Amino acid sequence: MRVLELKINGDRVEVAAPDHWTLLEVLRYRLGLTGSKQGCDKGDCGACTVLVDGKPELSCLKLAALSEGAEITTIEGLLPLHLQAGGTGPDPVQDAFDRCGALQCGFCQPGMMLSARALLNECHSPSQAEIKKALSGNLCRCTGYTQIIEAVELAIAERVGAKNS
Ligand code: FES
Ligand code: FES
Repeated sequence: MRVLELKINGDRVEVAAPDHWTLLEVLRYRLGLTGSKQGCDKGDCGACTVLVDGKPELSCLKLAALSEGAEITTIEGLLPLHLQAGGTGPDPVQDAFDRCGALQCGFCQPGMMLSARALLNECHSPSQAEIKKALSGNLCRCTGYTQIIEAVELAIAERVGAKNS
């Protein structure tokens, strides 16, 4: 057992956890941040994706002890971080997923939206091919992906439109 100091969604937290626990286990079973999903637990499905210093990472493959010192963003942090940055309402990626009906059971959505958020932070106007590549590690067993891609394209189109208007 060790005490970890983590920075999650802008907050510093101290949490005790077994040395071998992954970041995903600490998020879900110590901090109650259950938006990060435990799907395969071996790096295949992307449901556990979080942002670590802005980059998407699989929290089921990352030791919590190696996450100290990094800025970790989970799905629970997207809306408050957007508001803190001066936005209104949900993060545009969340809003676009909602408006496009880009979910069925919702299990894949937190990871999908965080992968999409990382892409949009890195690239102002990514192509459809770049969207597909960025989301290629996130599996969805329900939707067939069409509305998910449409949602990311909508978020991009609205951002580009807002800049040009
Ligand atoms: S739960 Fe981490 S990749 Fe599936
Ligand atoms: S909506 Fe069910 S796994 Fe994607």
